[in-house]
Amino acid sequence: MMQTIFSGIQPSGTITLGNYIGAMKQFVELQNDYNCYFCIVDEHAITVPQDRLQLRKNIRSLAALYVAVGIDPAKSTLFIQSEVPAHTEAGWLLQCVAYIGELERMTQFKDKSAGKEAVSAGLLTYPPLMAADILLYGTDIVPVGEDQKQHLELTRDLAERFNKKYNDIFTIPEVRIPKVGARIMSLQDPMKKMSKSDPNQKAFITMLDDAKTIEKKIKSAVTDSEGIVRFDKENKPGVSNLLGIYSILGNKSIEEIEAMYEGKGYGEFKTDVAEVVVNALAPIQETYYELIDSTQLDDILDEGAERANQTASKMLRKMKNAMGLGRKK
Ligand code: AQP
Repeated sequence: MMQTIFSGIQPSGTITLGNYIGAMKQFVELQNDYNCYFCIVDEHAITVPQDRLQLRKNIRSLAALYVAVGIDPAKSTLFIQSEVPAHTEAGWLLQCVAYIGELERMTQFKDKSAGKEAVSAGLLTYPPLMAADILLYGTDIVPVGEDQKQHLELTRDLAERFNKKYNDIFTIPEVRIPKVGARIMSLQDPMKKMSKSDPNQKAFITMLDDAKTIEKKIKSAVTDSEGIVRFDKENKPGVSNLLGIYSILGNKSIEEIEAMYEGKGYGEFKTDVAEVVVNALAPIQETYYELIDSTQLDDILDEGAERANQTASKMLRKMKNAMGLGRKK
């Protein structure tokens, strides 16, 4: 039987090159060999404040981008989390399996709550909701960037704990992290990962940035004063980050690129990185603008929600039965 893949992206902004390289790009390759569920996790996005009109826009935009990068709705189920109510229900059930201590140890919670006076309870209970997203579909593999590895480990722990305590109903999912590009760094602070909700716009490139903006952002990317295009993550994080982006989107090995720029400065290198990014994004953006206002996109999402609902509601029923909730169904 075909194995199942689940992965989600938050509509917490326009997705970045980091989200694309670390996650989405893999999705397109995987959909031929796996039964895939790709989700717009809008209920995760509201764990931090969102403007409602902007959130609506971002949800639709993310849906269009999924299709524009090559997610084929005939092969994969593409849907919006809040249109499948089993997610929040199962999320609650898993909150009752999770311990506060293990949730407080999550680095994402620590990072996003650091220095804030009031953070939502949802920010703390984000991981059990993410576990619900994954476990509802009997997921075998979860392709994500490196930053989500810790949440995935917790998902496995929760599934194992549930199976032992109640009934053996969950598949224990494996994480799949790309060998290269698992962590694309901020252009302004290459020690930090690139994030779509970074308040500094110059720190990230979105999938919808135009050529001029991309050139500007890459030109102002933080590098170092050595002036040699060489991959050395520890001592040259900025240049190494640009090399990684160039290598993945330009289909060239790091060594090949290093050789191409021997004796040349960062100016020429950055111009070419920008060109590679612009060329990679151009066809995606073209399809995106065709789709964004189309009814075709709504049809895809309606169908996706229906398919996801069918599978998820069955697993939710199993969870409730295992826990002794309600009347037996
Ligand atoms: N910098 C990154 N490099 C590689 N992969 C990344 N991912 C995120 N940032 C990078 C991967 O993208 C997928 C979707 O992420 P998400 O939207 O669910 O949440 P996130 O990981 O918190 O991403 P952001 O961009 O940092 O969002 P905000 O700013 O809203 O928190 C995941 O597979 C993730 O690993």
